[in-house]
Amino acid sequence: MKICVLGSGYVGLVTSAVFADMGNDVICVDIDEGRIEDLKSGKCPIFEPGLPELLNRNTHEERLEFTTSAAKAVTQSEIIFICVGTPPKDGGETDLSQVKAAAKEIANNLNGHKIIVNKSTVPVGTGDFVREIIEKFRNGNGSFDVVSNPEFLREGQAISDSLHPDRIVIGASSEESASRLLEIYRPWDCSVFVTDILSAEIIKYASNAFLATKISFINAVANLCEVSGANVSEVAKGVGADKRIGSGFFDAGLGYGGSCFPKDVDSLIHTANKIGPGFELLREVVEINENRISRFVDRIVERIGEGGEKPLAGRVIAILGLAFKPETDDMREAKSVPLCRMLVDYGAQLRAYDPIAIDNAKKILGEENIEYCRSAYDSAKGADAAVIATEWREFIQLDLDRIREALSGPVIFDGRNIYVPAQVAKAGIEYHCIGRAPTLPEGKG
Ligand code: UGA
Repeated sequence: MKICVLGSGYVGLVTSAVFADMGNDVICVDIDEGRIEDLKSGKCPIFEPGLPELLNRNTHEERLEFTTSAAKAVTQSEIIFICVGTPPKDGGETDLSQVKAAAKEIANNLNGHKIIVNKSTVPVGTGDFVREIIEKFRNGNGSFDVVSNPEFLREGQAISDSLHPDRIVIGASSEESASRLLEIYRPWDCSVFVTDILSAEIIKYASNAFLATKISFINAVANLCEVSGANVSEVAKGVGADKRIGSGFFDAGLGYGGSCFPKDVDSLIHTANKIGPGFELLREVVEINENRISRFVDRIVERIGEGGEKPLAGRVIAILGLAFKPETDDMREAKSVPLCRMLVDYGAQLRAYDPIAIDNAKKILGEENIEYCRSAYDSAKGADAAVIATEWREFIQLDLDRIREALSGPVIFDGRNIYVPAQVAKAGIEYHCIGRAPTLPEGKG
């Protein structure tokens, strides 16, 4: 099938690569010339395991090409995927300007019959909006239909999520369009759910909002565990064993970040307020999430700080992990950002390390009061405490004896609960984590 993908961001590139790999002819378009030049010369502009190989293979085998010419791509394709950015505006509303621009490009180049598939995360009603834009600006006598096909991939495992999703959702208003989409997805072995466009649009936001709610819920339970002396890991296991609840996506920590959950929850609240019923539950979800960092920093101050406006003045803190989650260099809404800012505001000097996100982190956090280090051991050198902010695998396997030797104060504050408390105690390190009692070094309990 001849497919055009508008947008070469996360979703656009992964969609292009995967559809090409399934034997389709794909043209991926972006208005950013530099990005397209990079892609043409084999450079992948984002960090995503497995993506560069997939892009290169399919480019080499001539099933995938990149262009800045939407005209060429649209006129040559039967199916057009809109995969452009939908960033937040102030107040949570979704900025649809890139969707609008994409719809105008399609309208200007309408020939034959096109199926226009919205894969960008867009508020309910955007399918109609795209249809209206195309009707208004259409040029030529082609026909079209609009379909919604939300994407559920996660950064860091985007390829395997795309190839093995839990479900594919197709929102269509005609059987013909739905069956064209079903044809594209024929190689997939998973449940495919065909519904109307409005429902498909809400499915995407409701899924992300539910997952965010699950995280805030277990974080609120973690607060309760901290005060009562219970263990949130045990509680999550016991609660999650109920199949109706499930144990996945139930890890307490510093809260959710990234380019999707924070903006999508805000957008759903905005939409719910705009069209009527409101969604107060989600306001609480956001508030719990926003309070994670100050609560965590309070515990650091309580243990290694003093009084006054700069309670951490003179303290050196190692920060292990900066990316919003492992396997990505993405710093968007990373919890490390408010964490580092608050620690610096309180007077701390930071020694930060991340396996791949340091360059992106520097752009956001700058270099004042933060020294970026070459390894976890390097960042621990002479620090009064180490803080785990991202659960990178290499931190789980750290030699804790080496960490203790490097630290001047052997204390770890673990915002992601990556260690078994007894293991840290055995290494002679005091351990403070989320929703579990602190443990002292062995022999000092
Ligand atoms: C999320 C969804 O999981 C995808 O299904 C969706 O397609 C994507 O948003 C999107 O809308 O584009 P992603 O943002 O890549 O994917 O990251 P997740 O792996 O879902 O993690 C989100 C945040 O939740 C991270 O900050 C992570 O640390 C946090 N999290 C996750 C927890 O705090 N606890 C958990 O148990 C799981």
